[in-house]
Amino acid sequence: MSELDTLRLKIRQRYLQTEPQIVEELLAEQSLNDREREMLEETAAEVVAQLRTANNPTIMESFLSEYGLSTKEGVGLMCLAEALLRVPDATTVDELIADKIEPSNWGIHLGRSSSSLVNASTWALMLTGRILDDVDEADNAPVIALRQLIKRVGEPVVRTAVSQAMKMLGKQFVLGQTITEAIEEAKSLETQGYTYSYDMLGEAARTHADAARYCDAYARAIESIARVSGKGVTESPGISVKLSALYPRYETTHKDAVMQHLLPRIQSLVHMAAEADIGLNIDAEEADRLDLSLDIIEALLADNRYPQWHGLGIVVQAYGRRALPVIEWLLAACKHYNKNIMVRLVKGAYWDAEIKQAQELGLANFPVYTRKAVTDLSYLVCAQRLLDNREFIYPQFATHNAHTVSAIRYMAGGDTNSYEFQRLHGMGESLHDHVMKQHETRCRIYAPVGAHVDLLAYLVRRLLENGANSSFVNQIVNTDLSPQQVAGCPVTEVMNTRDIEHPSIVRPLHLYSPQRMNSKGYRINDPASVQPLLEARERFKQQTYD
Ligand code: FAD
Ligand code: 2OP
Repeated sequence: MSELDTLRLKIRQRYLQTEPQIVEELLAEQSLNDREREMLEETAAEVVAQLRTANNPTIMESFLSEYGLSTKEGVGLMCLAEALLRVPDATTVDELIADKIEPSNWGIHLGRSSSSLVNASTWALMLTGRILDDVDEADNAPVIALRQLIKRVGEPVVRTAVSQAMKMLGKQFVLGQTITEAIEEAKSLETQGYTYSYDMLGEAARTHADAARYCDAYARAIESIARVSGKGVTESPGISVKLSALYPRYETTHKDAVMQHLLPRIQSLVHMAAEADIGLNIDAEEADRLDLSLDIIEALLADNRYPQWHGLGIVVQAYGRRALPVIEWLLAACKHYNKNIMVRLVKGAYWDAEIKQAQELGLANFPVYTRKAVTDLSYLVCAQRLLDNREFIYPQFATHNAHTVSAIRYMAGGDTNSYEFQRLHGMGESLHDHVMKQHETRCRIYAPVGAHVDLLAYLVRRLLENGANSSFVNQIVNTDLSPQQVAGCPVTEVMNTRDIEHPSIVRPLHLYSPQRMNSKGYRINDPASVQPLLEARERFKQQTYD
């Protein structure tokens, strides 16, 4: 077996290890001693305090700190945002708004936010709730009549207002509706030293027509970016691509078709990016897609047509149990194919979906860690591995967390040109402004481009990310938490945690306990899990039945 095959096997076998076993390994790998961890906590807490003093959270940060996922209203709004943009008819929109807004207690949020816009939204939501709710006004006939009138004339207004609010929320995360508009919009921050990676909205193509449309959008975008590039891959704007947009059956069970149809599409985009000498990043998506994505990445690395181009970018998700072995495989692949690549390290955007899917399917374990601190620890261990291998890899650290940023800066040493930070458009502005000005670090902004119709999945991930009370962007605007609490060291936290597997997250097989065990499921997109099934099926292949 070749070294690369052995490392692929190691990635697949990661699911056989328990979460505590992996965490033990991560703790043994991490290199920060007690003194360094304390120093980093202090540095990060100072950054948090400074950002709070500057007090300029984005509208989104203020909105979600008031209406986070821990309030009934917040959950209602998330559901509404998730559903509203794709509801085609007005009647259903009205019913949806009534369903999600009416029962909530908006009054308690009034005046609590430091943002006047958020308070104005609260007024609007209160009014909406009142207009749609006249049940408890039975003792006041004139008011009922008036409310009913407002209700009749008002619902289209309400509908438009709520739809507009959701679109505004979406706009916060999208740089432009077209690539030309986005490139124009990017100019002001580019003059301040930022660079961009454009993401053409659209993912998980359902049809060949969708895939063709998304493919074309990427190709046109690369042409446009090529016209404003010319400073090499690290300083020019680049593009981020989701493989699921390029083919409707991007699944291991359709591997042959994927290699036949999807691979040439990404190869052609890579060709265009290499010719323009810009970065092309392959976004990481659901855990189920990881194994197959590595086949595609290997085929791209094996292509020797662009020896001078160092712009192929791979994204690794630190929340995935397989993150570290994936980095080991990538390093070996770089050496084997004599390639330099970029690696964007993220924590991962699909956590809720991964947990839910594993539970639904009754899998033996989760593909992701169950504690945020473990994801943060994994991020630091993976980061160290990337930083130790800068001769092959240009690390790109995508995070909005002040502790993570402080730790990376410390681990990276003084050479701020050998790596970059990345943030999402609409998030983490103050943090990265601060770090860039103080320490001359590089920062690239991931900027979605496209129409509202393609925004939905991306928007939901951002709402979940901003709305979760464990996330840094949520905690920094929550002044009930001290800077020290927000900037705590994950390594120390994990060391002090007894139940590594989070006890509140129900194991997939125990989803219906104590009534009954969940039915056992398989990861049919994971070769290691499906192989025993295929082998067991083999002996029936020749069998004939009367
Ligand atoms: P933090 O608040 O420190 O971390 C939040 C993260 O912790 C969550 O997103 C989740 O990953 C993790 N987490 C939360 N709760 C738990 C828990 N109970 N157990 C375990 N882990 C938990 N994501 C992708 O998946 N693929 C991409 O290709 C991708 N590209 C990106 C590009 C850029 C430039 C940026 C900035 C982000 C990208 N992301 C991508 C999104 C990224 O995953 C999230 O923005 C990131 O997780 C937020 O991390 P943080 O350090 O900013 O925040
Ligand atoms: C996402 O689409 C940014 O790739 C990340 O959520």
